Amino acid sequence: MAKPIVERVREIIEKRNVDCLLFTDLSNIFYISRFKGFEGIALIVPKDGAPKLYVPKLEYERALEESKNTEVHVYEERFEKTIKEALEECKCNKVGLPYYKVSFWLISALSKNSDNIKFVDVSKDIMSVRSVKTFEEINAIKKAIKITEIGFAVALESLREGIRELELAAKIEYAFKTNGSLEVAFPSIVASGTNSALPHAIASTKPIRKGELIVVDIGAKYEGYCGDLTRTLSLGSVSEKLKDIFYAVLEAQKEAIKNIRPEIRASEADSIARNVLKEYGYEKYFIHSLGHGIGVDVHEFPRLSSKSDEILKPGMVVTVEPGVYIKGLGGVRIEDDVLITESGNTILSTYPRDLII
Ligand code: GLY
Ligand code: MN
Repeated sequence: MAKPIVERVREIIEKRNVDCLLFTDLSNIFYISRFKGFEGIALIVPKDGAPKLYVPKLEYERALEESKNTEVHVYEERFEKTIKEALEECKCNKVGLPYYKVSFWLISALSKNSDNIKFVDVSKDIMSVRSVKTFEEINAIKKAIKITEIGFAVALESLREGIRELELAAKIEYAFKTNGSLEVAFPSIVASGTNSALPHAIASTKPIRKGELIVVDIGAKYEGYCGDLTRTLSLGSVSEKLKDIFYAVLEAQKEAIKNIRPEIRASEADSIARNVLKEYGYEKYFIHSLGHGIGVDVHEFPRLSSKSDEILKPGMVVTVEPGVYIKGLGGVRIEDDVLITESGNTILSTYPRDLII
């Protein structure tokens, strides 16, 4: 049986030779404790014994109910004073922290009048632990993907001349909530016509017109885990040029997915897709990386990017999302979520991809 998450996280203590780990960001705290905090929360993972969760009084009952295998403490004092005392109490002088998520304010407060305290960055360690999912995490991601796919069905049913991007986004998000998703993984992207040339377009009041491409990039969350899928749709038929872009992106995505397997470099997956787009002359319009891990956060490790030095491993769940964006004309992105398995990969999303005419 796979090791529980807390034990996998605890291994960082020995690896980095620290006395304990301290987390103050909501994602890592949820990942380890299952408590979904709001703000002002800290989690100390000691060498032995249960992790200690520090919450404000108003969160105490919910923290007791939601958190798993943790000791829940209420802090009566100021946040930074409570953490400082808690670290002293458990004799943690050398503290492992994910620097990418810790405020300079907190570090300054913990260091003040303390000659002994030392900090060690464990960002890469925690990212690496989180990148390989447990069976339960994969199930939650699969459910998030299922709900996200309902969103595409609703988008296609609702698509008509004149409907505004925001209205379509609202219908999608209504379907997410009514199907059991408490929140979105990220603000829904519905980008039509020339807006679709912006990879992170913000859904606007623009009415959707015939002949336009519509990039719909959406993600439901389920039990704290994200789905992240993109489909490019059309309302009526689109120009030959837009079709050419669409099928180039589709081929790039298929080729990358075909080659994704354990031990391949994340950067190689990226270059496979990039090479397909090069053959079509669209490489310079592919202005982001091929994909990223998903989990508690929508963007996690590994990064499927030319700059990444990571190697893919079984249990990772990554997006594969090539795109082409041409200013003034439009854009295409097709994104699916893929689980790396021992023998290759499984595409977790099943929604049809060829949705243009
Ligand atoms: N779904 C947004 C992104 O992956 O950037
Ligand atoms: Mn994505």
